[in-house]
Amino acid sequence: MTMGDEGVVLELERKRYFDATAETFGGGGGDAIGGRLSQGSPPIPDYLRDTYYWAYLSPLGVALLDHPIVVWTILWGNYPRLRDAAFAELEAGQKVLQPACVYGNFSPQLARHLGPQGTLEVFDVAPIQVASCERKIRDIPQARIRLADSTRPGTEVFDAVCCFFLLHELPDKYKRRAVNALLGRVPPGGKVVFVDYHRPHPAHPLKPVTGFVFRHLEPFAFGMWDQEIADLADNVGDFEWSKETLFGGLFQKVVARRRGAA
Ligand SMILES: C[S@@+](CC[C@H](N)C(=O)[O-])C[C@H]1O[C@@H](n2cnc3c(N)ncnc32)[C@H](O)[C@@H]1O
Repeated sequence: MTMGDEGVVLELERKRYFDATAETFGGGGGDAIGGRLSQGSPPIPDYLRDTYYWAYLSPLGVALLDHPIVVWTILWGNYPRLRDAAFAELEAGQKVLQPACVYGNFSPQLARHLGPQGTLEVFDVAPIQVASCERKIRDIPQARIRLADSTRPGTEVFDAVCCFFLLHELPDKYKRRAVNALLGRVPPGGKVVFVDYHRPHPAHPLKPVTGFVFRHLEPFAFGMWDQEIADLADNVGDFEWSKETLFGGLFQKVVARRRGAA
């Protein structure tokens, strides 16, 4: 098979996916809570369809990639450290929004961290991801998954938002939209926690390979190297910002806490 043939096969698989999705979910999908789907879903964003089909929409891609070892490997063994850095900002009993699925067991672990008095609401814009996450959290009563676009998260308010490795997947204009939409979902005292890539130290031994991966697979991730997350916020002064870099600067945790009493 030539490279051209592979492109045609991928295109056919993509078309089959969208036809099947339209059949199952009705047009752009359906609104899902606990895996139940109805009409009125968000459309699949163009960047997800065009750039990340293989990773997040292809049934084969999901079957191959949705495993803890994959996340551990992609993050160079730093998954536990990055997860714990995010969880350190979140308390048992809180109502938390996770604005996109994460492969492996991040959502069940977060739901357990929040405990039975807490609530975890997970959003994802892809029906296949919603179905996959639903299987992982179905035995955890405090966790729910819903089909929704995180750049348009509705009006519900949360104690905190935990945005784990979503921003680098978004083109810059969507990064800005997502940051502002998520900041808008917390009240005074509430936190939005972003854990994502960051420009590594120039001498970081993994900088060349990370750049190679970004160039070929994750083109929008360079936006995390070129700009600060706080600079994407329209109302930057409404929040207290803190930033910590990890693993030689390859990763960052940024916390925005809305000013005012809790
Ligand atoms: C959080 S990111 C990737 C995280 C990490 N690289 C991993 O290993 O899972 C991937 C998820 O984001 C979802 N996603 C992308 N754009 C979205 C949007 N605008 N709203 C909600 N979910 C989105 C995709 O469907 C996918 O499930």
